[in-house]
Amino acid sequence: MLRRLHHEQPASFAFTPENLRWAEAQIAKYPEGRQASAVIPLLWRAQEQEGWVSRPIIETVAKMLGMAEIRVLEVATFYFMFQMKPVGSVAHFQICGTLSCMICGAEDLVAVAKDRIAPEPHTLSPDGKFSWEEVECLGACANAPMAQIGKDYYEDLTAEGFARIIDEFAAGKTPKPGPQNGRFASEPLGGETSLKVPAKEREAANGSVALALALGDTVSRITDGRGISRPSVAPAAPKGEAPQPKAEPRPAEAEKIARPAVEPAVPTVEEMEPETLSAPRGGAADDLQKIDGVGPKLEALLNEMGFWHFDQIAAWGPKEIAWVDARLKFKGRIERDGWVEQARKLSAG
Ligand code: FES
Repeated sequence: MLRRLHHEQPASFAFTPENLRWAEAQIAKYPEGRQASAVIPLLWRAQEQEGWVSRPIIETVAKMLGMAEIRVLEVATFYFMFQMKPVGSVAHFQICGTLSCMICGAEDLVAVAKDRIAPEPHTLSPDGKFSWEEVECLGACANAPMAQIGKDYYEDLTAEGFARIIDEFAAGKTPKPGPQNGRFASEPLGGETSLKVPAKEREAANGSVALALALGDTVSRITDGRGISRPSVAPAAPKGEAPQPKAEPRPAEAEKIARPAVEPAVPTVEEMEPETLSAPRGGAADDLQKIDGVGPKLEALLNEMGFWHFDQIAAWGPKEIAWVDARLKFKGRIERDGWVEQARKLSAG
């Protein structure tokens, strides 16, 4: 399939504040000069927010990571996990059509998708809520046939079960991911014959589903609107295609769900501008690259802000760190790499 930018593009893109904090935390995981490593997580988060990867998303991610836009486009178009055109506002079903799933009934699932969603893949349903496509093996062959929505797997499907899942999503519910035939994982249909799991431990034994449910991190975070404002920019519907859906209203009960933070929240610290210099004292700046985590780019940025000497950095307190952090693009780096402590030692010689 030809993968390229969609012919209709939204005017802009911005991460929601929650997603921006999450993205900055991802970027801070990588050492100076390696921020491009966060390209897939950021694109994925943007897709979870907007449903698909648009040009403004590529431009935004490229800017955040200091990458050329073409490099981000290359990643987005290479991996089929990224949708390059609008998808259903509630769910985009990726139905596995490879051997095990095909033998176990994938064609029946595709028939349901054609009947209930749209006759052709990558096409929105008339209400704009759903879309579907057939994909290659998703690695859940022991639970064939299966379909993926976002990062959630719905396994051991039947045509009737798949239709019920679509109905539940249409009704604003979030069907529980995982096997749909009573299995808790990929044990034999007749039950385990070895390594038996007590009934009361079965939920927890299916690690991925149990953890996703416990964190409130299933596909529900897309459908219930918690922190997600998708689609925030609705492109005009191309001729002959169904109109783009509006953002789903947030169900009242979703407000009550306390979702544990997957990433630690970034605390809001009052900022204070540290003392800066217009030029290095005596015309000789310290080699700030001696601080672990400071590369040539960061050193230039620090100099630009008026920091030339170890003792300046050694004098930063939490408010000054917050001020500098806010201007460095990659938050958390100063404390994570211990710049102040390092600067103190270097300043003391
Ligand atoms: S064949 Fe469908 S998941 Fe492997």
